[in-house]
Amino acid sequence: MPIPGLEIEAQRAASPPNGRRSGPPLTTLWSERFAQRTQRMGSSVIRELLKYTEKPDVISFAGGLPAPEVFPLAEVARAADTVLREQGKTALQYSPTEGYLPLRELLVRHMARYGIKVTPGNVMITSGSQQGLDLIGRLFVNPGDRVLTESPTYLGALQAWSAYQADYLAVPVDDDGLDVGKLEAQLRAGPKFLYILPNFQNPAGVTLSLERRRRLVELANHYGAPIVEDDPYGQLRYEGEHLPPLVQIDAEWHDCAKGDCEFTGDVLYLSTLSKTLAPGLRIAWVVAPESVISRLVQMKQGADLHSSTFGQMVAYEVAKDGFLDRHVRTIREVYGERRNAMLAALERHFPAEVLWTRPQGGLFLWITLPEGIDSTELLKEALGRDRVAFVPGASFFPRGGGERTCRLNFSYVGPELIEEGIRRLGKAVKDRVARARA
Ligand SMILES: Cc1ncc(COP(=O)(O)O)c(C=O)c1O
Repeated sequence: MPIPGLEIEAQRAASPPNGRRSGPPLTTLWSERFAQRTQRMGSSVIRELLKYTEKPDVISFAGGLPAPEVFPLAEVARAADTVLREQGKTALQYSPTEGYLPLRELLVRHMARYGIKVTPGNVMITSGSQQGLDLIGRLFVNPGDRVLTESPTYLGALQAWSAYQADYLAVPVDDDGLDVGKLEAQLRAGPKFLYILPNFQNPAGVTLSLERRRRLVELANHYGAPIVEDDPYGQLRYEGEHLPPLVQIDAEWHDCAKGDCEFTGDVLYLSTLSKTLAPGLRIAWVVAPESVISRLVQMKQGADLHSSTFGQMVAYEVAKDGFLDRHVRTIREVYGERRNAMLAALERHFPAEVLWTRPQGGLFLWITLPEGIDSTELLKEALGRDRVAFVPGASFFPRGGGERTCRLNFSYVGPELIEEGIRRLGKAVKDRVARARA
């Protein structure tokens, strides 16, 4: 279906301006040589549509981008200067695959405050958590292996593991996160591992309750299934109490003396500086038993040798005197206000039949449209006519479904644009609902 206002761009993309491309497409020699595993990885309609969200007149709730206004430019500039002046030759050199030791030690101290007790030998720095997910796929996923995920789940993980030909077992989420009541049936199918996002899940924004965390760990242990816990947003909580990570609950489950629980290694834990410092630095980390770290190191050597030495040293320099704690407080204030603005705007502008989650933190909320309304169709209209974007939810479902759902990001644009964008989207939704009724 043509999208009003988007035809011109589509034509331009189809015919290169210099007109040099004649004869058979240049890609032929390569395109018949793509590995079999790429066959499942196609470009989707949604991805094509989302290219248009970059246009300046579009209000986009589509990306998962932090607000650039909160990037600590001065602190990073000062840190970069210090690193270059004081340790420039080390910073510009190759470095160990595991990562910069002072940064790993700092992360160990940081995690201990959140109940995760590990040593630097359990930590490997990765180029974003996205790389951590990819390396986990390389290390553990054989073609046809089943990975158990929440449904919906983080699209980047599905992309990473589909490249290794994973199959998926899916367990639905509700307002309290993964529905553990439906977990056991899937565990019986023998997943290679479980992939869980306990805090302010991407995309649904929901948080796994304490009771469910305990039950999840108990069931996973009962069935001998390891867990990958992905936690990029844990520190970005705007209301309610911090909940213990699955790593800690697993340590407690293994009957440790209270307060002195050892890392069991059953749960691999990933987190990142992307949302608390800056995603452009591409600094994240994975926590695993040393036997797994040494294999992940081999995988990472094949991928990129190591994450940027300079980036790691700058991140350490920025973080070493507690700056991140202060900075996270600022981020929480800014994003908390934006979340509130979006929730209030939804109340004002959306029809009563639409449902949405009320995230306690993170970057996203999740909308369920009334029966009969397809969110990809809604996006075409909202983007072309109303110049507002979001991500249709279907692509976050590993086994299909979710056609009535949408992911909305509230961190990137300020409260005024949130109000205007939700007003426009509300209008598009109301039009659709009215037409569906008619
Ligand atoms: C759940 C989840 N995991 C991993 C990532 C990747 O983060 P990074 O920037 O560290 O690669 C994201 C990014 O949005 C995410 O939402």
